[in-house]
Amino acid sequence: MKSSELRENFLAFFKGKGHEIIPSASLVPENDPTVLFTTAGMHPLVPFLLGEKHPSGKRLANVQICIRTDDIDEVGDDVHHTFFEMLGNWSLGDYFKEEAIKMSFEFLTDSKWLGLKKDRIAVSIFAGDKDAPQDEESEKIWLSLGIPQKRIKKLGKKDNWWGPAGETGPCGPDTEIFYWSGKEKAPEKFDSEDKRWIEIWNDVFMQYFKSLDGKYELLSQKNVDTGMGLERILSAIGSLGDDYKTDVFWPIIKELEDLSGKKYEDNKKEFRIISDHIKAATFITGDRKGVEPSNVGQGYVVRKLIRRAIRYGRILKLSGDFLIPLIEKVLEIYSDSYPYLKAKEDYIIDVVKKEGEKFEKTLEQGLREFKIKAEKNEGKVIPGKVIFDLYQSYGFPFELTEEMAKEKGLSLDKKGFKEEFRGHQELSRTASAGMFKGGLADTGEKAVKYHTATHLLLAALRQVLGEYVYQRGSNINAERLRFDFSHPQKMTEDEIKKVEELVNEKIKENIPVVCREMSLEEARKKGMMGIFESKYGEKVKTYMIEEFSKEICGGPHVKETGELGNFKILKEESSGAGIRRIKAVLNP
Ligand code: SER
Repeated sequence: MKSSELRENFLAFFKGKGHEIIPSASLVPENDPTVLFTTAGMHPLVPFLLGEKHPSGKRLANVQICIRTDDIDEVGDDVHHTFFEMLGNWSLGDYFKEEAIKMSFEFLTDSKWLGLKKDRIAVSIFAGDKDAPQDEESEKIWLSLGIPQKRIKKLGKKDNWWGPAGETGPCGPDTEIFYWSGKEKAPEKFDSEDKRWIEIWNDVFMQYFKSLDGKYELLSQKNVDTGMGLERILSAIGSLGDDYKTDVFWPIIKELEDLSGKKYEDNKKEFRIISDHIKAATFITGDRKGVEPSNVGQGYVVRKLIRRAIRYGRILKLSGDFLIPLIEKVLEIYSDSYPYLKAKEDYIIDVVKKEGEKFEKTLEQGLREFKIKAEKNEGKVIPGKVIFDLYQSYGFPFELTEEMAKEKGLSLDKKGFKEEFRGHQELSRTASAGMFKGGLADTGEKAVKYHTATHLLLAALRQVLGEYVYQRGSNINAERLRFDFSHPQKMTEDEIKKVEELVNEKIKENIPVVCREMSLEEARKKGMMGIFESKYGEKVKTYMIEEFSKEICGGPHVKETGELGNFKILKEESSGAGIRRIKAVLNP
């Protein structure tokens, strides 16, 4: 099946079941600064999952473009991508488990739709824990559909719970549907560890709200949120065993074969990384919100993707503008579904070209450095430290250095490299935690003051309005701060005055702003606000203004609040559904 048919079929099926088809939202989230990109179809729907009325009704479906940056380092295997499309359907307080599961099953197995064999299907359900009970209802529904008990696995939160997408928000138990991709008959018993069972669809029963202090409260509305990765299901239907062989990747791979004169089968990792990264970079650059390569936020991700694609191109002996014909392939694949991309073709090519030219200079320096080191170590093994320095300073992947060393008849100390790498991992993690905060555009003296004032403002808003207030956006320059936050109605004069007074009180107290690094777990326990999407064990930077304000943040900040001057709110206005915006200044 072609990707275009799959999209059409999916949407037609849910339209037939009374769903409104909504457009894919932008890749850059509209109102959620806690994540850089839209990571799932439910993400732009959060306000509606929390009870706000959606203009298109209670049954929705779409194909949502998504980016997951957590997976960057896993790209290269059979199934991971940074960019992917998610097919999803939602019930906003309408149908629940029974109808949701039955619809998923019908779409997958009915010969009118995907016609997948029932004896190749297995499922997992939530086993229950201290926060929520075992999902017996889903189990009964699956049994009634003819899925045998041996094919139903009960798993914990790690596997069968979804959300929240950011630090806090709607979430719930889920049931995941797996498809047997092996050539042989599917085993009677479902083993979720066996990689031949591929997870294809996730039905989430979103009935809880996770608050910042880790509590799960029942939502007033029971929702369904489902998501199915388009690339994965395409590969499963076609028994391809490789997402890169589907029609949303294959033309890029073929083009790469032509350009490099090398075969995909012999260079899978490089081909996959290059094709995934150029596709993601094309979509991010071409996004309606428009992102250019830079050193912060989304721009940093595009830069990383383009540069990584170029470096892996080097391993295939590709240099110069080899990414441009690949962009053209990406546009060919997606023009019908996402016409706005094609309209930005010239712009995307220009951005990628310029970034490539900038990067070439760094690469050339790295190559010179390698030559010197190679001569020095002639006839010997290149030490781990040298390989690591090339990686650290010029971003050379191990494979690139290995390739160059091979040409010179040298070998590498891989073990030494790994040790160096591990030693530096902690450090670079801390750095990137700051980086991924979205960064401060301006680190001038005035902007830094506004940054600290923003922390005081958020804390004051939470104290005056309530704990449900979260940051939804922030923009700072040397003249003012602009701050978006969740709050359902206009603030009263009195509330504005109270917030202003509270901030000024904290400024007068001249409280030290204390910066500390700690593990994410510790930060969470201490009730720090901020992004919690990083991996376990990661170190984050935190800023505390006594117990009043506690945030995970890359900084920088002033040393003491007394440096700020007088805080004045100029304006309080709406900034989208359920979001208010404050503009404020600091006067000397
Ligand atoms: N939000 C869920 C997921 O991403 C279902 O769409 O898997």
